[in-house]
Amino acid sequence: MKELTPEQIHENWVKLINLIKDTFPEDYPNNRREKLLNMYQYFEDRMCIAPASGKEHYHNAMVGGYVEHVLHVIHLSVELKKIWQANGATINFTDEELIFAAMHHDLGKVGDLENDYYVPNESEWHRKNRGEIFTHNSELQYMTVTDRAIYLLNHFGISMSEWEYIGLRLTDGMYEDANKSYYVSYSPERQLKSNIAYILHQADSMSTYIEHDEWKRSEEQEEIKVQGRVENIKKAVTMEETSDQLSQKSKDLFNELFGDK
Ligand SMILES: [Fe+2]
Repeated sequence: MKELTPEQIHENWVKLINLIKDTFPEDYPNNRREKLLNMYQYFEDRMCIAPASGKEHYHNAMVGGYVEHVLHVIHLSVELKKIWQANGATINFTDEELIFAAMHHDLGKVGDLENDYYVPNESEWHRKNRGEIFTHNSELQYMTVTDRAIYLLNHFGISMSEWEYIGLRLTDGMYEDANKSYYVSYSPERQLKSNIAYILHQADSMSTYIEHDEWKRSEEQEEIKVQGRVENIKKAVTMEETSDQLSQKSKDLFNELFGDK
């Protein structure tokens, strides 16, 4: 299972806070930078350990997964924007707008002002057999993740531009039914007037698939490790060994069963 160390979790948090300080200027109208830092300070304890999803085969369903996912989406949004631009796309939004939307597209996953959105699944069976590591917290009023993101930003008095709203609102692409009327339009005047949503959706999808791949690889490595240990145990109990070898094998077997991993 993919896991982050406490050092990595701390490092990611510092990266996120520095990104806010580097992206949003101190003299930004309406003290937006200060309000953002206030919000992040309010959520620090909960946000830095929040997962990005509840099921391990989705993406980043682990402690610290949320912040890592947000950092991935920000990074890929900026990279993808360059590719779009270099290939002739119109870019009518700023990097600051792109980063703001990427940074907050999943903000609702932190929960409400008091309660976490994801809580550890108490059912061992569901954790083991269904990979459902976290479940949705039933204490929360139902809201879509995007609606909650907008509610929280509003609560902390953080305003946003029209492109930031469109980008953040549509990052989930057509995976969110409510986005259909934005993405599927039959008349030119209703088409999206900026590429910001397409770029954010691509960055979010790409991050999700890559995070899933990382999890898959860590599972495969774990399986190889377990397989190796089983093989060692099998060898240790075969009777084709000399008594000296058997004595050593017994020790190895003991270590396999009861020693450190
Ligand atoms: Fe996301």
